[in-house]
Amino acid sequence: MKISRSLFRSTALVFIGALFAVRAASAQTGPMRMHHGFQDTRKWVGIFESPERAKWQKPDEVVKALALKPGENIADIGAGTGYFTRRFARAVAPGGIATGLDVEPGMVAYMKRDAEKLGLKNYRARVAKPDDPELAPDSVNLIFFCDALHHIAGRVAYLKRLHPALRRGGRIALVDFKPSSPIGPPKAMRIPPGEAIKEFREAGYRPIREFNFLPYQYFIEFVPSRAAAR
Ligand SMILES: C[S@@+](CC[C@H](N)C(=O)[O-])C[C@H]1O[C@@H](n2cnc3c(N)ncnc32)[C@H](O)[C@@H]1O
Repeated sequence: MKISRSLFRSTALVFIGALFAVRAASAQTGPMRMHHGFQDTRKWVGIFESPERAKWQKPDEVVKALALKPGENIADIGAGTGYFTRRFARAVAPGGIATGLDVEPGMVAYMKRDAEKLGLKNYRARVAKPDDPELAPDSVNLIFFCDALHHIAGRVAYLKRLHPALRRGGRIALVDFKPSSPIGPPKAMRIPPGEAIKEFREAGYRPIREFNFLPYQYFIEFVPSRAAAR
């Protein structure tokens, strides 16, 4: 079914407006601001799982671009409803595991029910600590953030904590809103890609690839800087 430009745009506005509402509300709450605002699971399911989101989020293209292989393990941090996690689970089967991590127990419960409903035994979910996802050493091939990293406080320290979890050849992929997007939160509230790259570099990673097919978000892959020597 063809979706009109205005419907496409209005859906995107609802999604991004909702994100902004969370950030604006949370901006008044100081250092804990990044960890509140997603308790109303039912509301967020309607927004994150909106069928129109796919028009600009292009989830299947994102998964394809990541060139995942069966047997790989994926950690989807700030996974929300598992919009990407369930797709990762399919992409890494057989043998691989996709885990959705989120600070909100309601989101984790939703993901667990979804995995059960879909019969995806390699789709896991668990609650994450706000400052540390507690990934086991040498456990993942890809760590993925979509519209989630900007919710995390102390990002450089957080990213540094992820190093031991990455397997040989492991990557981190980041999808977040572009400053140039005509819609979205005010520019001051976005993480421009240059700033994200700077933070990743400070945390010991380097960008290896950038994809330009998402209209409202940048999409960058990073590897540990030390990987150059491998
Ligand atoms: C905008 S949603 C994005 C959800 C999902 N990645 C998607 O693309 O549909 C951000 C999610 O990050 C979660 N979150 C916020 N801070 C977090 C943290 N420190 N660690 C893990 N998840 C976090 C929120 O609960 C929320 O579900």
